[in-house]
Amino acid sequence: MATQMFEGRGHAAVYQKYRFAPGKELQQTILSYLQEKKAIPAELAVDVGCGSGQGTHFLGQHFKKVVGTDISEAQIQEAKDTPCMPNISYLVCPAEELPFPAGSVDVLTAFTAAHWFDVPRFMREAQRVLRPGGCLAISTYTVDMSLRHGDCSEKLTRVFRECWDKILEYSHNRLKYVLDDYKEIFEALPFPDKKRVTDIYDQIPMTVEGVVGYMESASPYQTFKEKDPKAATSLLQETEKRMLETMGVSSRETPVEFWDGLRKGCRLSKYQNIVPEKQKAADRMRQEFAKGNNYKCNTRLFHRKWNAVDLPMSDRVLLVAAELNITTAMLELPAAPSFAEASRQPLEFFTQAREDVRGCVDPWHQPSGRLRHWLHKLQAAMRTESTACLRATTIPYVMQVLDNLRCAALQDKC
Ligand SMILES: C[S@@+](CC[C@H](N)C(=O)[O-])C[C@H]1O[C@@H](n2cnc3c(N)ncnc32)[C@H](O)[C@@H]1O
Repeated sequence: MATQMFEGRGHAAVYQKYRFAPGKELQQTILSYLQEKKAIPAELAVDVGCGSGQGTHFLGQHFKKVVGTDISEAQIQEAKDTPCMPNISYLVCPAEELPFPAGSVDVLTAFTAAHWFDVPRFMREAQRVLRPGGCLAISTYTVDMSLRHGDCSEKLTRVFRECWDKILEYSHNRLKYVLDDYKEIFEALPFPDKKRVTDIYDQIPMTVEGVVGYMESASPYQTFKEKDPKAATSLLQETEKRMLETMGVSSRETPVEFWDGLRKGCRLSKYQNIVPEKQKAADRMRQEFAKGNNYKCNTRLFHRKWNAVDLPMSDRVLLVAAELNITTAMLELPAAPSFAEASRQPLEFFTQAREDVRGCVDPWHQPSGRLRHWLHKLQAAMRTESTACLRATTIPYVMQVLDNLRCAALQDKC
């Protein structure tokens, strides 16, 4: 089923004011793909779920004719009221029933909108309206945003994240598609030739006012405001005040860099809640390992006098990255059939987590004493210990690795 949000006139106006166009790297990724597939130059592009037209304007520079479509009349009205190129027009219609003849559209796009659609119906409609060889480009922002300003970037990001996390508590359950980096939506694409790109990292130039306005434009904030207008308004006011204090400035017009993705490919927040099935699968694997292995190893990597929570936040990311490296390396080794079967799912999970966390590691970060000491111990063990020993000192502790991953994702709430 499709979900209707973004209907209110007030919400559409905030949207128009504060939503930004797709970042340069996203634009380039889409254009390169269209060039590779020889889908441009072309006549007609349709931007589905166009909102007030942020992505539609970008298409206007590359196609002869561009139509922005949206289910919300208020959003389309805002789009129409905004000056744009003469080759752009707008229509109110659902993504699942596009008023275009079969095979008439060269390129279809949906920017941060597909998670609201009735996905199977939209896919059928895309298949119908696209010409043979036409392209569909679906993208979304992540929820892992960060801010940069002078030497207070880390603190500023924390202030932003505290507010953003509170807002995300009011998320519609469709946010699961975004948290999953649109994996499910990608899998639903009915086209044999498809490509998923997850490491786009865009910097959006903003001001303090723009960042606060972006949060206000988010649909969970609107839900929060409906439920508790006073708390919602004071959260944004308080956050703006804290941002200005942190930056040591007084003007809301002060520029700040807004990054979509903490660092290139950093996807941490989705590990705040690790689904019970993943935990159970990891635990089953651990038990299966214990059945067939009583190898004793002198190095005991996971016997530490401290936990992830005792480390500074940027150290936690480094710790988890190292733990995920060794865990996946051990799980990738050839194993008895019963263990190989039990480790199949956990290996997939740990590999994905390793990739997600790898992008969060700040190459300039110097680990604190405790962590530095442990990382040396790990390196020495990798050089000197046998594979059997390394497996015996790692696999029984996979649940601890999961806990630490969750702790790194929870940041100051751990
Ligand atoms: C998060 S906004 C994104 C808007 C714009 N593409 C952007 O990048 O800022 C999602 C948009 O999808 C629209 N939408 C939601 N469900 C829809 C549906 N079933 N058909 C068409 N548009 C829909 C909403 O009205 C809203 O304007």
